[in-house]
Amino acid sequence: MTADLSAVTTLATSTAEDDRPRIGADPDMFCRPGDPTLSSVRADGDAALVTWSDGRTGRFHWVWLRDNCLCSECCHPAAWEKMHDITALDLDVRPAAFTLTEDGALRIVWPGLNQAGRAHKTRFPAAWLRRFCYDDWAEEERAETIEPWTAAIGNRRPEIKHQAVMESDDGLRTWLRHLRRYGFCIVKGAPRRPDTVTQTARRIGFLRQTHFGVDYTVISKPNPENVAYTPIYVAPHTDLSYTQTPPGLQFLHCIDFEATGGESILVDGFAVAERLRREDPESFDLLARIPADNRFHDHDYDMRCRKPVIELDEAGRVAAIRTNRQGEGPLGLRPDLVRPYYKAKQAFALLTRDRSMTLRFRLEPGDIMSFHNHRVLHGREPYDPGSGKRRLQGCYVDCDQAWSRLRVLEAAAKAH
Ligand code: OGA
Ligand code: ZN
Ligand code: ZN
Repeated sequence: MTADLSAVTTLATSTAEDDRPRIGADPDMFCRPGDPTLSSVRADGDAALVTWSDGRTGRFHWVWLRDNCLCSECCHPAAWEKMHDITALDLDVRPAAFTLTEDGALRIVWPGLNQAGRAHKTRFPAAWLRRFCYDDWAEEERAETIEPWTAAIGNRRPEIKHQAVMESDDGLRTWLRHLRRYGFCIVKGAPRRPDTVTQTARRIGFLRQTHFGVDYTVISKPNPENVAYTPIYVAPHTDLSYTQTPPGLQFLHCIDFEATGGESILVDGFAVAERLRREDPESFDLLARIPADNRFHDHDYDMRCRKPVIELDEAGRVAAIRTNRQGEGPLGLRPDLVRPYYKAKQAFALLTRDRSMTLRFRLEPGDIMSFHNHRVLHGREPYDPGSGKRRLQGCYVDCDQAWSRLRVLEAAAKAH
């Protein structure tokens, strides 16, 4: 089938109000100067084969296009949400006609009439198709730059001024980009007040409240809830490993630090996992496959979560790390896996302490150490509480908040 030109005439003369939902607001919908437009489209069996002006081709199944119809009856123009019923979807749907518009979008007329009794038509902008193209190359094109790091990053540690984060969207965007790319960033020069960390984190989004509260104070104290509240060594770990969804971003603001010792430790859990995959694939496999028991309990709580240390995505890439020695429950393991599993845990822990992998530094009062708790492990050297104060204030924000904020800021910056 080739484009039906009789439909082009009909469409070109229509005001097309009903096939232009969401315009002006959704950044996925419109092309910016320099973005590829569509240069051709043809039918290829159960799909449309489109070519962009940069020569890339994408295959979009008709059923997929019908399902994602952007007309104002299928997609609510104000709520931007899908309106039509999955059970009514014709799996073998074919367009009545299709063509390219003058501005390089794909216009489709579906068979039948819409609820208003008019032709059911829709327009897929080139940028939208590019954004949601599901061919392998497109997934790769969109893959983000997540930069694994080792101890050498100490010379070019990502930092940002507190004022920049608080006073400009550019500063906020840079901060979030660092968190996305490196999994951590040190915010410098924050006022040394107890509410600074929550105010700063709120620039990103809602705080994630936990059983430690909206925020928490890290000091050495009698009857500590966890070992961070003592002066002893805290091995590199991720926080709240015993929850179904550990908080995504963590913030530790250094308010006072006069004590000797107590240097902070950060390590890229993704880099550690990849190294383990190379050096000891069997251990990697066990940590990625076998769920481990995590637990936090006191008089009021008994939280448990059984998940592997290394979470992989559908392509086998490392997606998240969950590990906290203090929050390990007794492991429920298949008997033949007990020894190999402990060996794997040990191998992973040794890598997280390897000097070539870890970043060590002393927080300065006014620093906020921010990091991606699903990726970067944090720890602390022991300190001498008799030698002076050490006081941090901490809180969390979930990844949904953070990455959504980053996308919206990136879209706004691109639109300007
Ligand atoms: C924490 C923690 C480390 C530190 O509070 O979660 O690990 O530097 N603290 O005190
Ligand atoms: Zn529709
Ligand atoms: Zn911690």
